[in-house]
Amino acid sequence: MANKGLGKPASDTCVLVTGGAGFIGTHTVLELLDRGYNVVVVDNLYNSKPEAIRRVRKIAGLAEDDPRLVFVEADIIDRDAMDKAFAVHDIDAIIHFAGYKAVGESVQKPLEYYWNNVAGTLALMDVARDHGVKNVIFSSSATVYGEPDSVPLTESSPKHDATNPYGWTKSMLEQILTDLYVGDNEWNVVLLRYFNPIGAHESGLIGEDPKGIPNNLLPYVAQVAVGKLPAVGVFGDDYDTPDGTGVRDYIHVVDLARGHVAALDWMAGRVGTGEAHDAASIPGAQAEDGTRSGVGVFNLGTGRGTSVLEVISAFEKACGKPIPYEIKPRRDGDIATNFADAAKARDELGWVARYDIDRMCEDVWRWQSSNPDGYGD
Ligand code: NAD
Ligand code: WQD
Repeated sequence: MANKGLGKPASDTCVLVTGGAGFIGTHTVLELLDRGYNVVVVDNLYNSKPEAIRRVRKIAGLAEDDPRLVFVEADIIDRDAMDKAFAVHDIDAIIHFAGYKAVGESVQKPLEYYWNNVAGTLALMDVARDHGVKNVIFSSSATVYGEPDSVPLTESSPKHDATNPYGWTKSMLEQILTDLYVGDNEWNVVLLRYFNPIGAHESGLIGEDPKGIPNNLLPYVAQVAVGKLPAVGVFGDDYDTPDGTGVRDYIHVVDLARGHVAALDWMAGRVGTGEAHDAASIPGAQAEDGTRSGVGVFNLGTGRGTSVLEVISAFEKACGKPIPYEIKPRRDGDIATNFADAAKARDELGWVARYDIDRMCEDVWRWQSSNPDGYGD
């Protein structure tokens, strides 16, 4: 079936957001609603709660039965459920967040990770194609670069071997989605490589709600700040970085969410005229209604690196109290430094990250201090 064009106004465009009840998904749904898009969220609630969707409705001022935001509890690998979702809702494009994301767990449970992330995406794309929906924005990760040869990372920096099954699923899915376009030029694919998403919506109503003890730095620091955990373990202080601790490109989740809306506009031919100037993108073509086809690859980061100790210090400023920490051995698989060259997203998507590390920490603190147990039970 021919691909649906994206040349309609946002108010006539319906976006399927898989994993839309999760951390990045909820913030993206809000930005889409703000821009007038209609949204169907599909989430199996494996790592999220219905309360997250209730709060998105609250922030957006939508009643539970408002057709601009529909929630479907389903697994993307369930073809019957997905077929029904596509049949009932006139979906034009997909923003695909659904997947498992815990790096360490993926080493213990490779089958579950490959099944959910890779097989889940294959099933989803197959059903989408049956319904003529070939516009997809995929959550990739800076993890596809592996150990960088140099920083900042551009989209044409080489992809190195992943160090864990989670990273491989991202790398494989980038290839699979690229091959869909190679085999059928109607596909319109954007691969967004996120750096380290943190932060929360300024309302303090939605944010990151990890299960159990957090693996990532910011939720860990936030839980120390509210007294749920005693001290932050700093994984290594002997890296080749200014203060010896790991340096990352932290990006505010609201900036990241806006990056998805910019990518959607770009796919619809509404922004930028530049040819993809980079081997990492397959430029594709532009139809009469302006809609593009091809594969666009974009880093979403701030272009600035922040060390673990700088994050702790910014968080102390945000919460107004000291954060106890202790230096621990390096964590297996960690690299010293990575940060993005985000020029391509700026030049082609017209997108730049607005918020700095202080603002990111202030928003995490607002969320964590008013919701010490996340969305609760
Ligand atoms: P998250 O766990 O908060 O959100 C993912 C959502 O997908 C959850 O609500 C979960 O219930 C749902 N889900 C998982 N498997 C599903 C399935 N089979 N069917 C339907 N729903 C399913 O994670 P997040 O941080 O919001 O990440 C979103 C995406 O971005 C993921 O693909 C992740 O790998 C990617 N990503 C995240 C980060 C990060 O640091 N948070 C960095 C780079 C890339
Ligand atoms: C950040 C820095 C740690 C926890 C991971 C995934 C990546 C992407 C984003 C999905 C590092 C240090 C951490 C702690 C610490 N996710 N740290 N104490 O490892 O850069 O990236 O999330 O795609 O794929 O690997 O993020 O937040 O775990 O670590 O000192 O308790 O904080 O060593 O330098 P990372 P992170």
